[in-house]
Amino acid sequence: MLRILVVNGPNLNLLGRREPETYGSESLDKINERLTAHAGQLGLDVSFFQSNSEGEIIDYLHREGFDADGLIINPGAFTHYSYAIRDAIVAVNLCAVEVHLSNIYSREEFRHKSVIAPVCRGHIVGFGAEGYFMALSFFGKPKGDV
Ligand code: DQA
Repeated sequence: MLRILVVNGPNLNLLGRREPETYGSESLDKINERLTAHAGQLGLDVSFFQSNSEGEIIDYLHREGFDADGLIINPGAFTHYSYAIRDAIVAVNLCAVEVHLSNIYSREEFRHKSVIAPVCRGHIVGFGAEGYFMALSFFGKPKGDV
């Protein structure tokens, strides 16, 4: 069974309460609960981690990354400047999908650049929580599919 890590960065613990017009009204716990059910249907094992600290995210990737098959990551604002998280993804050699709830390209200029995306297989933006499910479906595809 493939093991997929789902990592959320700073302020995403406030989902549901934080700017719901931008990020939706569902809490992270609720999203993760639904992801667990979806993963079960796809035959995937999912592990969840959220932190507001860059170092904790890096430590988690070092700890769990070598034993995982894939990573779904919403790095929050770290997306735009954390070369350290980018390097950690490369260091543990994980196939990663970056997810953003909002469409970062239709927002402030500083959000238009992701320093993480170039080391990811792909990224999904602007579909709200659905983006995490799309990423999970990618990992649930039969091996060999593009
Ligand atoms: C976000 C977009 C980031 O620019 C922002 O800092 C977040 C959330 C998103 O999911 O849309 O915290 O990653």
